[in-house]
Amino acid sequence: MSFHPKMEYAPARFHKSARTLPDPGGDFTYTAENQAKFDANVQRYPPDQRKSAILYALYLAQRQQGFLTRAAMAHVAGQIRCTTADVEDVVSYYTMFYTKPVGTYVLNVCRTLSCALLGAERVTEAISEKLGIKVGETDASGMFTLIEVECLGACDRAPVVMVNDDWEERLAPEQVGEFIDHVRAKGRAAFTGCHLHKEK
Ligand code: FES
Repeated sequence: MSFHPKMEYAPARFHKSARTLPDPGGDFTYTAENQAKFDANVQRYPPDQRKSAILYALYLAQRQQGFLTRAAMAHVAGQIRCTTADVEDVVSYYTMFYTKPVGTYVLNVCRTLSCALLGAERVTEAISEKLGIKVGETDASGMFTLIEVECLGACDRAPVVMVNDDWEERLAPEQVGEFIDHVRAKGRAAFTGCHLHKEK
């Protein structure tokens, strides 16, 4: 069901559903700095629960390379001491892990109920029109990638768009054009951040 007259709510629009084998990529190992970060993090878990560090291990690999190739997943598997298939399972589940290059800013539009009721699909549509891209694509400048995600946990401040590790809340569809222009001009300074924190 869709809350938007022109857009279908269908799995085919969700970038994870169009799953393909990850890019094999070239040789991958952590930088010395990232290896030290991983080694420090994995100490937090009992030796027989090393897998608990997998999200952080993948986060480091993605921050280092921009997206996760199969070689990077194999490296993480070696660090965690599990199979590459185990790592792929995790990567394919979480929308914040990318298996192809993305733009400088990844616009994660929440499409779950509260956001949908307050116009999230029109936000996605406005971003698509502004940037000339569909969900799952990166614009020609390489600056923006558009994806849709499920609830971001800020339902009372819908519609919500997570931009990389930052937050844009209560983004009305008619504000999208100005928002994109501000991000182009100001970068991270353009984001409203978490209102919950501000309203305390
Ligand atoms: S429904 Fe969008 S943040 Fe919860």
